[in-house]
Amino acid sequence: MKKLGRNDPCWCNSGRKYKSCHMAFDEKIQKYALEGHIVPSHDMLKSKEQIEGIKESSKINIAVLDYVAENIRIGMSTEEIDRLVCEKTAQMGGIPAPLGYEGFPKSVCTSLNDQVCHGIPSEKDILKDGDIVNVDVSTIYQGYFSDSSRMFMLGNVAPKTRELVEKAHKCLDIGLEQVKPWNFLGDMAQAINDYAKANGYSIVREIGGHGVGLEFHEEPFVSYVTSRGTEMLMVPGMVFTIEPMVNMGRADIYIDDDNGWTVYTEDGQPSAQWEVTVAVTEDGYEVLTW
Ligand code: MF3
Ligand code: CO
Repeated sequence: MKKLGRNDPCWCNSGRKYKSCHMAFDEKIQKYALEGHIVPSHDMLKSKEQIEGIKESSKINIAVLDYVAENIRIGMSTEEIDRLVCEKTAQMGGIPAPLGYEGFPKSVCTSLNDQVCHGIPSEKDILKDGDIVNVDVSTIYQGYFSDSSRMFMLGNVAPKTRELVEKAHKCLDIGLEQVKPWNFLGDMAQAINDYAKANGYSIVREIGGHGVGLEFHEEPFVSYVTSRGTEMLMVPGMVFTIEPMVNMGRADIYIDDDNGWTVYTEDGQPSAQWEVTVAVTEDGYEVLTW
C-alpha cells in the first residue's frame, strides 16, 4: 500500500485531504495490524455508492426468494425452482450468478435434507412431504453481486428437523449481534458455533462465507468455527455473507463424486443453512439481502 501524505487526496475518492478523511481510521487499523491481527485492505471496503449498488442487486435477490416462497410446493422438482429463479431474475433485469460459475450448470443451488450446500436442481429431485430444502440465490445486477439463502420446510417436517431449521436461523441473529466495527470475524464465528454446539449441532468447517459485492466471492473467507478475538478485524464498509451450515449430527462432509459439486453430510443426517449479506456500518451492521 502506498503511504499517503497528510495533504494527499484520500484513497476513498471523497476528494478530501487524507488527514481530514481516512487518516485516523487507517492509523487505528494499523494499530491492530501491529498487534498481529488480520486487517482488511482498502479494496475490501465498499463506498456508499457501491453499497447502494449491492442493495439494488439485493432487491432482486429478495424478490426471487419471495417468489420461490410463494410457489414452492410438494411434488415440484428442484428443476422447477431453478425455472422460478430464472424467470423472476430475468423479469427484474438481473443475471443469476451461479449459472456457469466455475462450471456450475444451473441458476440456483437447491440443497435437500442431508445435502449441505451446492445441490444442483434436477427434474429427478421431487420435493416430498417432510423435506427441508435450502434455496441459495445469488444475483448480478449492473455489476453488483448479492447472495442469500433461505430454508423451506415442506408439509410435515419431523419436529427435530424443524428445530434444526429454526435454530440454524437463530444462528444468524446471534452472529449478527457480533457484527460491528472493531470486533473480529472470530467473535461472530464463536457466538454461532457456541450456540450450535449447545444445541447438540455441529458447524461445517471446510465451507463458509465470503466477501461479496463487486465479485461473487471476495476476500475474506468467513469461517464459523474460529475463536473470539481471531480472524479479520471488522471495519465499516466491509460486506460479507453469514451462512453457517448447521448439521444435526457430525460436522464431516463429502462432495458428490459424480457431479463434483453437491456437498453431503457424512453421517446422512440433515443440514440446514440460512444466508444473509451484511455490511459493517459505522455503529453496527445492515443486512443487505436476506
Ligand atoms: N451461493 C453460494 C454461496 O453462498 C455459492 C454457490 S457457488 C455455485 O457462496 F456455483 F454453486 F453457485
Ligand atoms: Co454465499
